[in-house]
Amino acid sequence: HKKIKSICCIGAGYVGGPTMSVIAQKNPDIKVTVVDLNEQRIADWNDADLSKLPIFEPGLDAVVEEARGRNLFFSTDVNQAIAEADMIFISVNTPTKTYGAGKGMAADLKYVELCARQIAEVATSDKIVVEKSTLPVKTAQAIKSILDNTGNGVKFQILSNPEFLAEGTAMTDLANPDRVLIGGDQTPEGKAAIQSLVDVYGAWVPQAQIITTNLWSSELSKLVANAFLAQRVSSINAISELCEATQANVEEVARAIGMDSRIGPKFLKASVGFGGSCFQKDILNLVYISKSLGLNEVADYWEQVIIMNNHQRDRFANNIVSTLYNTVSGKKIAFLGWAFKKDTNDTRESAAIYVADRLIDEQAQIYVYDPKVSAKQMQADLNYLSTRTETENAKYLQTQTDPYKAVEGAHAIAVLTEWDEFKSYDWQKIYDNMSKPAFVFDGRNVLNQEALEAIGFQVQSIGK
Ligand code: NAD
Ligand code: UDX
Repeated sequence: HKKIKSICCIGAGYVGGPTMSVIAQKNPDIKVTVVDLNEQRIADWNDADLSKLPIFEPGLDAVVEEARGRNLFFSTDVNQAIAEADMIFISVNTPTKTYGAGKGMAADLKYVELCARQIAEVATSDKIVVEKSTLPVKTAQAIKSILDNTGNGVKFQILSNPEFLAEGTAMTDLANPDRVLIGGDQTPEGKAAIQSLVDVYGAWVPQAQIITTNLWSSELSKLVANAFLAQRVSSINAISELCEATQANVEEVARAIGMDSRIGPKFLKASVGFGGSCFQKDILNLVYISKSLGLNEVADYWEQVIIMNNHQRDRFANNIVSTLYNTVSGKKIAFLGWAFKKDTNDTRESAAIYVADRLIDEQAQIYVYDPKVSAKQMQADLNYLSTRTETENAKYLQTQTDPYKAVEGAHAIAVLTEWDEFKSYDWQKIYDNMSKPAFVFDGRNVLNQEALEAIGFQVQSIGK
């Protein structure tokens, strides 16, 4: 099999950037070029000031500093990087379709197809093309058809190598993955291509953790992994509502069931609802694929995970309204956190957006503090829902860069993200400066409820 000397990755986003940084760090003899159409994004990846990197991930700056300019490059010259590479990763976005058949459900594959066509057009030597994006099962077939029918007669091997990193812990997940999954054709050429990619990861991942399989199992495993993870969150969130109605405590229940080694303790944290760019998109895609195949019970089963998540967000917002005497009109409500989880600046599908939207419907004034999310991003997230005009949204949603300013004079505080710093705030000072009664709605169960109640707060948590 071929030893890889040059890698190109199309898409310098949350997956392409960190993944390629680690591949370059661990393989100093391989030239890794990450390309993107977005000029600003590439300029930010190349910024001498590492605090300007386009995505925030703990530990990313150090790896970029080590490899950038040595064997890691960020560029907008997609064609040159494709031409030079032996192996090309497709790591572009695959959002839910917003138009046409499968609107609101299916994955939009237009960016992936554009990549395939561009690779076919530019390539004048044999290439291994790796699906890094999360794709519907059988996409490799479409990519192969495009490459073989529009190419210059060179040979392509397609591999599926889904990414399992979670944001906020991407660098440790990449450095120490539970497993690396590689799918490919089970022909001699396919197996050789698989082995070339195994060697890239073999630079730091133990062989026992690198699993190889056929293309379809690999593609489907990614959707299934995310569906199972999201299902655990919806399951515990469903139980949180039952706990609230019965004086059981969801954390006690999670501890009790999590010690069963068949269930395990992780991913049992009740919350205001899961967010992020992956869970909802990938489950909707799984539901769409199942429906397309006539598997209606399978589709309905998984769709319930999304229905439960939407319900959990609504329930959290509605509870704020009912607790504040059924009116939040003109009241100041402070949000601590806007990102979909801690230690990331990513806000895609964050529960905070939906809770804000619901409260703004009730004419609440929302003041948000998040340590990593910009005011511009918050406005864009709210505007994306198209519930009301941008001018109106701007009237109701304010961003504060000082958390104490955000909560000053507020009727209620809602914790939407589990940022560690929230725990160590001066809660007495916060209490003193709030309207009374001072309410706290802890959507992440991160605050010390007893300590807050001792100060005088009225606290509501999830599932308690
Ligand atoms: P992203 O939006 O952050 O990055 C994608 C990038 O691709 C963008 O910068 C975009 O400009 C670029 N792009 C799109 N079309 C292009 C083209 N034709 N040529 C060059 N550049 C192009 O997305 P992401 O979060 O990195 O996700 C990428 C894929 O990885 C998705 O399929 C996603 O489902 C999957 N994934 C994401 C995560 C995650 O945690 N974000 C984890 C695992 C898998
Ligand atoms: C997820 C998968 O974990 C990862 O393997 C895949 O590659 C991409 O999608 P990510 O979305 O980055 O990663 O973060 P994750 O840690 O899975 O959290 C997703 C959402 O679920 C967050 O909003 C998080 O707050 C929420 N969550 C997670 C809970 O509410 N409770 C939990 O117990 C775990």
